[in-house]
Amino acid sequence: MASDMISAEGVPAFGNDVRTVWWEDSSVCLIDQRLLPTEWVTVRCQTRDEVAFAIKSMQVRGAPAIGCTAAYGLALVARQSQATTAAELLAELATAKTFLDSQRPTAVNLAWATARMLTTAHRFNGSFDALPARLLDEAHTILAEDLAMCHAIGEHGVNLIPPRGRVLTHCNAGGLATAGYGTALAPIRTAHRLGRPVHVLVDETRPFLQGARLTAWELQQAGVPLTLITDNMAGFMMRRGEVDCIIVGADRIVANGDVANKIGTYSLAVLAQAHGLPFYVAAPSSTVDLALATGDEIVIEERATDEVTHIGGRRIAPEGVVAAHPAFDVTPHQLVTAIITEQGVIYPPFAEGLARLKRNT
Ligand code: MRU
Repeated sequence: MASDMISAEGVPAFGNDVRTVWWEDSSVCLIDQRLLPTEWVTVRCQTRDEVAFAIKSMQVRGAPAIGCTAAYGLALVARQSQATTAAELLAELATAKTFLDSQRPTAVNLAWATARMLTTAHRFNGSFDALPARLLDEAHTILAEDLAMCHAIGEHGVNLIPPRGRVLTHCNAGGLATAGYGTALAPIRTAHRLGRPVHVLVDETRPFLQGARLTAWELQQAGVPLTLITDNMAGFMMRRGEVDCIIVGADRIVANGDVANKIGTYSLAVLAQAHGLPFYVAAPSSTVDLALATGDEIVIEERATDEVTHIGGRRIAPEGVVAAHPAFDVTPHQLVTAIITEQGVIYPPFAEGLARLKRNT
């Protein structure tokens, strides 16, 4: 495709949502998010290793979207397996789960989805030959449920948007990061659909630029007014009174309500507190990990530093310079005003609300 910005026409849709992940011709299909918004290229993963590469390289990214992708990846493994017994196939699936989970360690949705696929396989009591079809079915269900959860997050979160509707968001927690519609962008899109005032300040989100490339594009396609800012403008915008609330997504929310999300989220939460602004986290129950007590236990993914020293493949820092690239940070629960989930809004203290959320899923 030419390097013009792509328009909404010709974009594959899933209901009213752009399709991020889907199954077609025995392949796991994705939009290569590294190329957006200038090129629209479909990636077809036909092996376990291609699925792993897509996740690691961020052809697909966003916690729920990589969970859905890995679920299809395990369905693919089951279909291609040469195993002759259920025990052999289960062992192969367990190995594939470990391999896929290791591609991006911070987003718990990945391990959550692969665990659900493995549990499905273990509980299946049909014939051995029917197991691959059952697993593909489960992957479809995970995708459909994620889409439904995003819409529910939109319904629950919309009333938190203050009347002037000026929301700041970070990274991309939109349709591209999920099965569709998004998490942080869901209340925003719902407000817009209801005709309420809403204007989004979009952090560009260095170093991978998910805000500038993906969130700006998604909001533009949806007709939601937006202003793109660089990450270091956020504090000034708050100080100038141009922000009414902050809504971000999450990669993992632990038992006490601490939140791992894209690097830079913590700084925003501190700024929000300094300016007396509400700081909301929007996430489905699949992002909640009660196995970890506090955010200190979360493994933070370290990515290649050329993502920092280069932009769009072009070097911007001197040759040989040392750079750091923690891809996520942890926002302590004390800085979070509320967590918007598919079951409703959870207020502090979070431990009880999060435990109830997980019990009801
Ligand atoms: O590195 P990414 O692009 O996968 O990081 C994405 C985020 O941090 C999102 O905010 C998070 O996954 C929530 S997506 C609904």
